[in-house]
Amino acid sequence: MDWTSEQVLTALAPRPAQFHAQIESSNDVALAWLKRGAPAGAVVIADEQTHGRGRMGRSWYAPPGTAIMLSYVLRPPANALARISMLGALAVSDLAEQLGVRDVGIKWPNDVQIGGRKLCGVLPESAWDGDQLAGAVLGIGLNVRIDFSETPFAETAISLERAANQAFDRLTLLRDLLARLDHWSARLESPLLLRRWRERLNMLGCEVSVSAPDGIFTGTAEAVDDGGALLLRLPDGSLKRVIAGDIALG
Ligand code: BTN
Repeated sequence: MDWTSEQVLTALAPRPAQFHAQIESSNDVALAWLKRGAPAGAVVIADEQTHGRGRMGRSWYAPPGTAIMLSYVLRPPANALARISMLGALAVSDLAEQLGVRDVGIKWPNDVQIGGRKLCGVLPESAWDGDQLAGAVLGIGLNVRIDFSETPFAETAISLERAANQAFDRLTLLRDLLARLDHWSARLESPLLLRRWRERLNMLGCEVSVSAPDGIFTGTAEAVDDGGALLLRLPDGSLKRVIAGDIALG
């Protein structure tokens, strides 16, 4: 069922929230709202985005009524910025498991996967006043009932309803997801968040290739450090620290 603004805002009250049936990108609206004073926990929800953004300059699109696309406002200390995308991936992983889905994992850095297929992507962005962090937004795109079967993503993406083999009420999912985001954002600096994120990473110890801004590297995904960077053991025995990139098995 399509969402109306009234339904969504009533379901989320008293949380500060905006709902848009169609919008360019919820991250843009949330960043603008953050600059005008949106508090931590405020959320912008889009049923459709015309210029949705993904990681590494990619675009992100889901048809109306098929996904949860939101941007969640945080006011973190600057030294916790790297943890924001971790909290998004953790919140979604916890939600999927609570719904009975098995084989949930996080593909470094922060794609949530089910059985190796992408369920959800996260896109954290921050706003600065000079050298002072004004705040951050955590963009989340969660596939709820997108049919990927006739698309180029048939083998690489999955929706929650397909994985759980049952239908869900998107508003209930939205509320549950926000509760989990609140839970983990209150623990942003806790060692527990880092531990849970590490436990969910699904390629540690594997031979991988990583496409990073400075090149493509193959090696063993040995570990992740406290800043979320991947430590890749290269064939010459050296250790490469990768801050951003795309990882693939083999
Ligand atoms: C990825 O590339 O995996 C991250 C995708 C993030 C998409 C979400 S949808 C809501 C929010 N608004 C955007 O423009 N992007 C994020």
